[in-house]
Formats: sequence, structure tokens, C-alpha cells
Amino acid sequence: MRPAGPWPAYTKPEPARSSRRASDRAVGLPNPGIVEYEHEVKRAQRAGAVIIGSVFGKDADEYASVAAKMASYGVQAIELNLSCPHAKGLGTEIAQDAAAVRDFTRAVKDAVSLPVFPKLSPNVLDIASFAVAAEEGGADGIVAINTVKAMAIVPELKMPFLANKFGGLSGPAIRPIGVRAVYDICEKVHIPVVGVGGVGSGRDALEYIMAGACAVQVGTAIIPKGLAVFDEIVKEMGSLLEEAGFDSVSEAIGVAHA
Ligand SMILES: Cc1cc2nc3c(=O)[nH]c(=O)nc-3n(C[C@H](O)[C@H](O)[C@H](O)COP(=O)(O)O)c2cc1C
Repeated sequence: MRPAGPWPAYTKPEPARSSRRASDRAVGLPNPGIVEYEHEVKRAQRAGAVIIGSVFGKDADEYASVAAKMASYGVQAIELNLSCPHAKGLGTEIAQDAAAVRDFTRAVKDAVSLPVFPKLSPNVLDIASFAVAAEEGGADGIVAINTVKAMAIVPELKMPFLANKFGGLSGPAIRPIGVRAVYDICEKVHIPVVGVGGVGSGRDALEYIMAGACAVQVGTAIIPKGLAVFDEIVKEMGSLLEEAGFDSVSEAIGVAHA
């Protein structure tokens, strides 16, 4: 589900494609605000969905209060989008400060009795150490990765492609970065990991599973393929697992570590 922060924000909602293999975006965090979010949750619940809410805020207290409100709407788990500007004005993301990752996770864990999954940024030197910090903060699982900080320049215009200059790169181009991140994280933590970044086929999903993820998320691939992408991924993954002699997805989790 899309994120919710304390207030509604409607900014440039469309991602831009900087190449055929990549989506480069700087959309901000358009969201309905935590009050209006309740209606979205209820609608999804009526349709029978399992809901993992995504929370952001400006400081640990705000993350905790938005998460508590979201929990009261009946979501099943909470993902923490930590790729927000650091509240201490360090010019970094919260996800680039391991102590903040630990403390924000702890603040949310103290405020809700739901599973909490911090979502990590690849824009750090050693993502596994951030996963360890999240685990120390009480995380029930890790989601990796968010978009990769990137830039494109339009030579004809002699200027950056995005008005924001920098954006977040997603799609197939970042899959090897995501798979490596999940692999590294799984070597260091004992909690489940959800892989995300460039998954658009069953084969892509299986890369993450074999790196150690127990589930995957799909973002950018929905843009060209629509919602049919989910069935496509599940079917292809089923055939690949069978061909490889696995009876279930869980048997394939982490096999690349052997
Ligand atoms: C248009 C767009 C909006 C996104 N919004 C969010 C967001 O609100 N919160 C978040 O944690 N990640 C957000 N992401 C990042 C994705 O959830 C995902 O981590 C990243 O795009 C890599 O996965 P993908 O290659 O499957 O898109 C967004 C990505 C895109 C392309």
C-alpha cells in the first residue's frame, strides 16, 4: 500500500523513465495523510486484502504516532520507510544513520504490537550493518532495497533530467544491487528478509529467494505489465522451482549461500 505520513501531501505522482531499463523518480511521498488513510485501509479490507502499511515521518515520535494510528485501522504489519530526510538535518536519510535505524525501529515497536519491517536504503556502504541495527531495535523483518540514488542529464538541454536533480533509480537496473544486499543481510541477521528491486519475472523473484529472501515485492514492473505481473511471476516461479527439483518456495530460500 502507498505510504502514510502525518499530513496529506500531493506532489508530482508520476515516475519518469530515464531509459528503457530504468525508472528514475523524485516524486516525494504523495499520500493521503494518516487520517484519510483509514478509508483506503477499509476499502482494501473489504476486498479481502492483507495490508502492510507503510509509515514515514520527521522524527521517531512521529513515526511511532503514525504507526499507532495505522495499527488502530487493523493493518497486519507495518513497514518503515526510512528513506526520509534526517530529522537532525544531517543532509542524509534516516536510513543512512545506523543508530537512527535502531532507535526509530524501537520507537515504533514500543508503540504497536504488530510486526514491524524497516525498509533499508542501498545508498550506504554496508547495508548489512544497518540490518543488524534494525534487528537490535526489535525489527521483526527487513525489507531491502529502496531506490538507488541516481541522476540523468539531458545533453540537448544541458540540464538534469529531473527538476530535483537527483532521483531514485528502480526497475531491472537495480536488481543485482538488491540481490547482493539481500545476500549480505541474510549472512548477518536472523529475522526474515523481503527482497525488492527490479522484480518483474519469476526468475527475478527466485534470485532474491535464493539469496535468502522469504518474500519479494514488486514495484516498477507494475507500470508496463499491469497487475497481471503478479500471476505471471507466481506461475513462472512455480515452473522454475519444479524444474530445479524443489517442492516449495521455502526449500529454495537461501540456497545460494551453500
Ligand atoms: C513511483 C514509485 C514510488 C515509490 N514510493 C515509495 C514509497 O512511498 N515508500 C517506499 O518505501 N518506497 C517507495 N518506492 C520504492 C519501491 O517501493 C521499491 O523499493 C523500489 O522502487 C525498488 O523496487 P522496484 O524496482 O520493484 O520498483 C517507490 C518507487 C517508485 C518507482
